[in-house]
Amino acid sequence: MQVTGKIEEIREWVAQARAAGKRIGLVPTMGALHVGHVSLIETAAQQCDFVVVSIFVNPTQFGPGEDFEKYPRPIEQDLAICERHGAAAVFAPTPAEMYPRENLSWVTVVGMTESLCGRSRPNHFRGVTTVCTKLFNIVGPDVAFFGQKDAQQAAVIRRMVADLNMPLEIVVCPTVRESDGLAISSRNQYLRVEQRREAPAIYRALEQGRETIEGGATDPDEVRERMEAVLRNAAGLEVEYISLVDPETLEDVKRIAGRVLIAVAARLGPARLIDNIMVDSDSQ
Ligand code: PAJ
Repeated sequence: MQVTGKIEEIREWVAQARAAGKRIGLVPTMGALHVGHVSLIETAAQQCDFVVVSIFVNPTQFGPGEDFEKYPRPIEQDLAICERHGAAAVFAPTPAEMYPRENLSWVTVVGMTESLCGRSRPNHFRGVTTVCTKLFNIVGPDVAFFGQKDAQQAAVIRRMVADLNMPLEIVVCPTVRESDGLAISSRNQYLRVEQRREAPAIYRALEQGRETIEGGATDPDEVRERMEAVLRNAAGLEVEYISLVDPETLEDVKRIAGRVLIAVAARLGPARLIDNIMVDSDSQ
């Protein structure tokens, strides 16, 4: 496996792979790799001949007071995971390599970045779309892989690629969970033992939402109330939002019909946790 922090070098390696007729896959990450990331790398390795994993804790997507400094950076362990699961190359640049001067150019998806997580994290998605555009321009992949765990991010990236005619395909992979339902996240390591014990309430609430819809509910408020009742039982958990939205546009649904994305964000001590599930109300 090849490893570099230099833009020029990763470009050269990808150019060689492309010249050899290989299909190029990109898995953008911020490192601290876990089994959720591994599922993306493995899917990429199945669908592509040359998989690039990028590892970059992107400063422009963190707000003031967020965890940019303390975000875990276990680079040696990350490289071993990439190698073991089929990456051909890792691109792990420094902030100075990615942002050598004051950044004046931003890619912004309006509207759908302002709801859900956008409400409490202004400019977060502007940082994500800008760094992903840079990574797409640097690596030039045929396909890039994202996780359903970050449903809003995946929908925003899909929309950006469609709106701006970016020449790549976006594949979204299912959320990987712990056996008790907690969606795996690098930020779960911020939880203390007793908080970790409460955290699966988020997934239980999502399942309660699914059951309520499958039981015939069409009013999003009714679903939200049933979910709130589950979350109220989790000590120390502060709900930021419970939303039922259209999976593509992320607009609030007024009446449940067809496919609905149920998304939750909550604070639990030092961690901000997000999770979601897709429910098809027509499949009853
Ligand atoms: P990061 O949080 O490292 O996540 C990298 C990718 O892994 C994202 O597409 C995310 O949705 C996916 N992922 C994380 N946990 C997952 C899980 N439990 N199951 C399935 N997929 C999971 O998301 C980012 O980094 C950044 O915003 C990035 C896109 C790299 C831009 O900086």
